[in-house]
Amino acid sequence: MTSRLETIFLKDTTSTSAHAKDCLADGLELPFAVIADKQSGGHGQQGRAWLSPKGNGYLSLVLPGAGLETKASPLVPLWVAASVAEFLHKRLGIAPTLKWPNDILFGGRKIGGILCETATSGHQLSHVIIGIGLNIRIAPDLKEAAEGQPTTCLLDLMDGSDSWEKQSDVRSFMALLASQLSLIWQQGWNDSHWYSQYERFHIAEGQPFVPRGKQTEPTVGSWLWRGIGPTGESRWQTSAGEKTVTTGDHGLKWALQVVADKPFQLLQVDIGNTATKIEVRSVSKDGVKISEHRSFLNTIPDDELGPQVGLLAASLGGALSSGYCVGVNPPMRARLTAICADHGIALINLIPRPVRMASSVYDQGQMGRDRKTLIEGALSHRRYRNRELVIVSMGTATTIDAIDSDHAHVGGYILAGLQTQLDSLGKKGAQLPGLSLVADNNPLPPLADHLDRGGIFAGTTEQAIIYGTLRSLYATVRSIADAREKASGKPVAVIVTGGYADALAGFANWTYHPSLLMDGLTAIVLGGFGSH
Ligand code: BTN
Repeated sequence: MTSRLETIFLKDTTSTSAHAKDCLADGLELPFAVIADKQSGGHGQQGRAWLSPKGNGYLSLVLPGAGLETKASPLVPLWVAASVAEFLHKRLGIAPTLKWPNDILFGGRKIGGILCETATSGHQLSHVIIGIGLNIRIAPDLKEAAEGQPTTCLLDLMDGSDSWEKQSDVRSFMALLASQLSLIWQQGWNDSHWYSQYERFHIAEGQPFVPRGKQTEPTVGSWLWRGIGPTGESRWQTSAGEKTVTTGDHGLKWALQVVADKPFQLLQVDIGNTATKIEVRSVSKDGVKISEHRSFLNTIPDDELGPQVGLLAASLGGALSSGYCVGVNPPMRARLTAICADHGIALINLIPRPVRMASSVYDQGQMGRDRKTLIEGALSHRRYRNRELVIVSMGTATTIDAIDSDHAHVGGYILAGLQTQLDSLGKKGAQLPGLSLVADNNPLPPLADHLDRGGIFAGTTEQAIIYGTLRSLYATVRSIADAREKASGKPVAVIVTGGYADALAGFANWTYHPSLLMDGLTAIVLGGFGSH
């Protein structure tokens, strides 16, 4: 059942929510929306003012209670936050970060706020007034209003006004948001989809929060985010055990948000089975730049690894006190965590957000952190948005994941990595040599040249082994991409990443993307950068 949404557009008002209440008192039929170009008395959470200049979006949407019980009201703002995040992601390609209960952030800066007011009749909600403010053209200075809260705006996150202009104007954008929310509400808001979207966009589990105004960096004593409970409460890990908080005014600040009001260095670590990569990215309002990249084998002894991390810390002049890692190798993670701690760096083990699954065949628990992070990385790139994707990551194992144009995971494969295959042939085949894909004296021309030449047979045993291994992976990926193309009727972009991925680069328009996992880490920590 759908009905047209009555929408009132105002040039100026004190507050769209106040206006909505007047309309309710006048008996206007539900649902309806009030949208204003500016507000002179906009209000926000905890009785704060919401600065509302012309150029940003102000919406109050009034929806019927839909038979919901009063005790469900704490869930409503979370549902709205998840729905707004999904809307921004789908429409603009921006993956915001949610902060419980309903802050909408990007890179630690606020891009929007939600204020829900519910009215009850007996044990049921009679209606809800959903107030949403989005910073579209202007990042208001909230220093006075909200204790130094840094802000940003959608225009700054996109490629400038041109690309916004192509999308829409402020009024129609807010009207579209209102009609989408009202539609989802009518179709039954209380399904599990919003819950997984909330988790997907929320600050990742395990990230630290610090007492507001006291500490500036995460140290012992910070609270770690654990997720939301069944009635929308927040769950935390503290030094005194698990704690639950129900009020948004908890006096805690996301540790990263403390530093996000000025340019900062983001330390990221990718711990693979055989190698570890460390990157430092400089994050500023203008974007993210890689300022340091080091890669080393996991067999490097501690007395060499320690100085390497030390040099990195020193080169940053002590600016680094925390870093984020994702890894499939717990012993190496423990080693590195201890070494980082010696240099005053808290290495936070990032728990990637859930990936949306197209079917229930694969469950979240089955999918490794590295794969989830890769998918985040791909989806943080504007050019891969709403595309059919096949993501190939080549390391000790080769993983292949298909993502549909709705950003859901369709399925995947795990194969022995190329070098792993070569090693095992060398070990098990009495007559066969152990070969290295990256040997300096590798006499092979690139696989592309080999295939171009017809390349059915290779001359030497070495060539037969290496080309055979590469070619079988090529054929596997090709056949998966073809199958997806057939099933979806859309072109498929193949992205290859990882240690040996350049061996397959240049093929059939596949894109070699060396930093996909690191991009995923950045996207999980800060939000997905719509602009790269
Ligand atoms: C927050 O403090 O984060 C919530 C801000 C909510 C602002 C919106 S703008 C539209 C509606 N009208 C208001 O006066 N407040 C809400």
